[in-house]
Amino acid sequence: MVVIFLGPPGCGKGTQAESLVNNNGFVHVSTGDLLRKEINEQTDLGCKVQAQMASGQLVEDQTILSLITKKLDSLPGNKVLFDGFPRTLDQARALEELLQALGKKIDCVFDFHVDEKKLYERIVGRFACVKCSAVYHDPSIMPKVKGVCDYCGSHEFEKRSDDNVKSLSIRLEKFKEMTLPLRSFFEEMKVLKKIDASKSVSQVREEIVSSLGL
Ligand code: AP5
Repeated sequence: MVVIFLGPPGCGKGTQAESLVNNNGFVHVSTGDLLRKEINEQTDLGCKVQAQMASGQLVEDQTILSLITKKLDSLPGNKVLFDGFPRTLDQARALEELLQALGKKIDCVFDFHVDEKKLYERIVGRFACVKCSAVYHDPSIMPKVKGVCDYCGSHEFEKRSDDNVKSLSIRLEKFKEMTLPLRSFFEEMKVLKKIDASKSVSQVREEIVSSLGL
């Protein structure tokens, strides 16, 4: 089963992805995470994209597709969840071809809808554990014990370099310009499913899980 999460920055794609991975056996393919790994390891690719990502610009299709091709070559299991990919029409067409070659197809694309004011609140409040990457939100999703990660006990947290108002406005602009056209692309394929992602984390999860018949 191949599932895609489509939606603007901060709509909750990563949060819902984590749940499908932990509870439903999906393999998570997030191009944002793959790029951040390259940056943390200071590879040539990471150094090339670091400033682009921090400012909120999209990374070139070719770079993204080379990361995805490498990832698909070594993918375990049959349930794959793409989070934040594809983000352009060229990426979507390339994904269709790559999947076809593997005898797979796109089964469902969840189209996350959240109003812009809420996206700003979610992004400005987001922070994550340095050690295990668990994602929180100040003030709505805080660790149970102040300053201690619920999952690994670490005391260190960080914010993403692109989680600021200036970068977010560029990310939203790019989303409208380059990614929104994918709605009609997936609608024509009859795989698009609209989700009201302004609801609570558990309500959004329920809707996704029941749509997938899990
Ligand atoms: P990427 O890492 O993909 O980021 P994004 O799409 O901008 O999405 P985010 O990770 O910011 O948000 P999310 O929807 O996952 O929200 P989350 O669940 O964390 O991409 C980053 C950059 O990499 C791009 O700008 C670009 O430069 C580059 N890039 C990546 N892929 C690319 C591609 N394919 N092509 C070109 N460039 C690419 O939630 C946000 C906050 O809200 C959290 O604090 C969370 O706790 C909270 N929250 C979540 N759900 C709820 C809820 N239901 N109720 C209340 N709070 C909630």
